[in-house]
Amino acid sequence: MTWIKVCDLNSLDNNNIFSFDYNSKEILIVKTGDHIFATDRICTHAYADLSEGILNEEEKTVTCPLHLSAFNLKDGIPQNPPAEMPLNTYKTKIENNDVLVLFD
Ligand code: FES
Repeated sequence: MTWIKVCDLNSLDNNNIFSFDYNSKEILIVKTGDHIFATDRICTHAYADLSEGILNEEEKTVTCPLHLSAFNLKDGIPQNPPAEMPLNTYKTKIENNDVLVLFD
């Protein structure tokens, strides 16, 4: 397991979706209030980029732009069909002004 810096904290606006690639992983980063979520960016149903989806800040979900499954940012679980498989989620932390994500 390795903590990888993905960006500076002040480069993340609240309630916007950011993209980050690490090795072959395509990651979505969302800051809501003082929490930063990191999940896989590609939908588990078909190939769609969730960074082009719709963020619901109150529900803490991102909705796929292709067939509209909403995924919980905390645990990656889809809230409605057609997606059935959860997204991978990643631990995050802030050190100094760096946003770090824990990868395998
Ligand atoms: S590709 Fe995301 S719900 Fe179908």
